[in-house]
Amino acid sequence: MKGVVLAGGSGTRLYPVTKCINKHLLPVYNKPMIYYPLSVLMLARIREIILVVNPEDEGVYRELLSDGSQLGMSISYAIQGNPGGLAHALLSAEELVQGDNVCVLLGDNIFFGHGLTEMVNEARREIEEHGGAYIFGYYVHDPERYGIVEFDEEGRAISLEEKPKKPKSHYAVVGLYFYDPTVFEKARKVKPSKRGEMEITSVNEKYLKEGKLRVKRLGRGFAWFDAGTHDSFLDAGKFVSTIEKKAGLMVGCIEEIAYRNGWIDKKQLKELAKSMEKTDYGKYLLEIAKGG
Ligand code: DAU
Repeated sequence: MKGVVLAGGSGTRLYPVTKCINKHLLPVYNKPMIYYPLSVLMLARIREIILVVNPEDEGVYRELLSDGSQLGMSISYAIQGNPGGLAHALLSAEELVQGDNVCVLLGDNIFFGHGLTEMVNEARREIEEHGGAYIFGYYVHDPERYGIVEFDEEGRAISLEEKPKKPKSHYAVVGLYFYDPTVFEKARKVKPSKRGEMEITSVNEKYLKEGKLRVKRLGRGFAWFDAGTHDSFLDAGKFVSTIEKKAGLMVGCIEEIAYRNGWIDKKQLKELAKSMEKTDYGKYLLEIAKGG
């Protein structure tokens, strides 16, 4: 299975006047936003990752993450020429995915919760063994902002709608999707929505029509942020800071996960830490390398 992180599109600038700042590279508390979705893929033990980016951003992403070999991974870059929506962004990665199953993460989505590792690994296994699509629903108070999934009395998903004016449920579809390789032919058939985007929801609808969509509801113990607005960006930063200070453990620390996954050794972890040893982030990595 390959991982795809969607980090392109026209909404990447939180501050339109400062064209140089891509929101996925801004720090959510103490690390770039993009580390959080990357870390979820790493927890699912997905080692080959494709980052979909706007043409003008490729250089800065390469500077930050290089080819991934420093983390014992492979990171490659697919360019989304114009912001055509999430299904369009995914198609930009098709060639690099080479017919494999995919786990797609939205670049501005942050997940935290007990059992996250087991949950993503279970979804991965399901797709590898049975194909189809596997997505997640999360109860929200403002369903108009998201893709929404409606369930019947037996808990089966019966409809999906992107940013509905009159939502049929309070369950948002979060930006974490597992797909078999038919996702690309489905994405190609998607027509632009009223807002002019090729929606990921339309792709999910195709799986639903085929009876091949599984939807798991995330429980209350889970925290999920779509950090794409100023407020949610701040909320996510405050949340990460609180959790990290309480537990003394980091959320979304990609170097730590690479080390714990056995993809890099102690020496490599120390080397990564060295370049940032004056920061708390670097000190934390050195502690981990010492066995902390
Ligand atoms: O966060 C969950 C929601 O994400 C889902 O509930 C919705 O169904 C889904 O459509 C999406 O809605 P958003 O309005 O939040 O999507 P947004 O335009 O913010 O894009 C999400 C990420 O995808 C963002 O990190 C940038 C990237 N992206 C977006 C577009 C439109 C691309 O890489 N290319 C694109 O063309």
